[in-house]
Amino acid sequence: MEIVICKTKEEASKLAADMITAAVQKNPKTILGLATGSTPVPMYTEMAKAVKEKKVSYKFVKSWNLDEYVGLPGTHDQSYRYFMNKNLFEKIDIKISNTHVLNGMAKDPEKECAKYEEQIKKAGGIDIQVLGIGSDGHIAFNEPGTSLSSRTGVVYLTPSTIKDNARLFFKGKESEVPTRALSMGVGTICEAKKIIMLAFGKNKADAVKGMVEGGMSQFCTASALQAHNDAWIFCDEESASKLKLRDYYAWRSATKLGL
Ligand code: PGA
Repeated sequence: MEIVICKTKEEASKLAADMITAAVQKNPKTILGLATGSTPVPMYTEMAKAVKEKKVSYKFVKSWNLDEYVGLPGTHDQSYRYFMNKNLFEKIDIKISNTHVLNGMAKDPEKECAKYEEQIKKAGGIDIQVLGIGSDGHIAFNEPGTSLSSRTGVVYLTPSTIKDNARLFFKGKESEVPTRALSMGVGTICEAKKIIMLAFGKNKADAVKGMVEGGMSQFCTASALQAHNDAWIFCDEESASKLKLRDYYAWRSATKLGL
């Protein structure tokens, strides 16, 4: 794992976006794994800026998203399909038919998940997977207690995730948040060739500590990234504040990035 520690989330988001821009410039057919949540929004804004400035094109890029709530259609303003259209897809030149988000309304959710895994495999696998981290250490909706070799499937949200996400739903009500989701598995995520994880703010400091310096455990599913050989963790000072070796990580990653 490389831990990149920046002063602000804006600075970290720009570095992460530059990494994606460079990869797509090099391989216009890059397969992206994408994430929702408030964390990647500044990075998506930077990616869109690079398209506007004609530095890069997503015309041949394909994407697969991490997860979707069960029971929300893509037209619902809290569905992850809606989020991706608004925050990224409508702002870059990607073909919407090349973007994939699990269907939370699928009649047979397990079949939907198996189909999704098949599609990713057929496309040659994810080249770059974007991730956020939950305050309980989850990646996608892989909550504490999920096997680190899990595959895409139907999962149950923990009360802490429901509480974290309620702010975005009608009147901030926890009862409005779906209790189940379709989610890529930890094993599926870790098969991506490169991982870009973003973690910002002090309410992520414990999760970042667990992911980086805790043991690999199903009680912090992000810790599975410890076994990945090309995982980049972009932090701001707050989210990195509890890391014991933070000065060392910051120096090492800055050297590798030539900063
Ligand atoms: P957030 O969610 O970006 O809204 O903090 C991250 C996550 O739960 O993975």
